[in-house]
Amino acid sequence: MSYNWEKGFTIDFDKITGLSQTAQSTKRLLSQMRGMFTDSAAQEKMIAGGDPVVYEFYEMGAPEHPGDLAAGASITYPGKVGDEYFMTKGHFHTILETAEVYYTLSGSGYMLMENPEGDWSAQELSAGKMVYVPKRYAHRSINTGNVPLVTFFAFRGDAGHDYGTIEEKGYRKLIVERGGKPEIIDNPKWK
Ligand code: NI
Repeated sequence: MSYNWEKGFTIDFDKITGLSQTAQSTKRLLSQMRGMFTDSAAQEKMIAGGDPVVYEFYEMGAPEHPGDLAAGASITYPGKVGDEYFMTKGHFHTILETAEVYYTLSGSGYMLMENPEGDWSAQELSAGKMVYVPKRYAHRSINTGNVPLVTFFAFRGDAGHDYGTIEEKGYRKLIVERGGKPEIIDNPKWK
């Protein structure tokens, strides 16, 4: 199947596999996120023990034009590295002035956001609710539950992704498990 970006199209939304069987899937293994979790020793041990998929996302391949919408689905798996929950790498958009919407289909967790000026926000992700990520904010999904966290997202087609800034600097805040519950703490490794 190919999508007709000029005339429109309809797809079946599969909550388990993402948008559709034909969407392009990208998997992120734990070994592709070295340096992003605080407990590097725990991370190396898990990589040696089987290198789990932390998250994957499905993209529809929209044309990268300002008037088109890039849309897809993201699945963040349940798990922890030390006491830090599985999360996506997180990114800014290359066009920083780009907002995005995330609608949670199943699972639960947080959308952790921060802007270059240092403001941050953590919004709960729960099934049937939408989170609006304002322009200028980096965003990362964090699964604090014990089933996959599945979200649908959409943003302007030409916005692009800037992963490098977060890979280099990290996030100001982390969400970790304390006493069986999620807690937001300062990132000791933030640069
Ligand atoms: Ni985004």
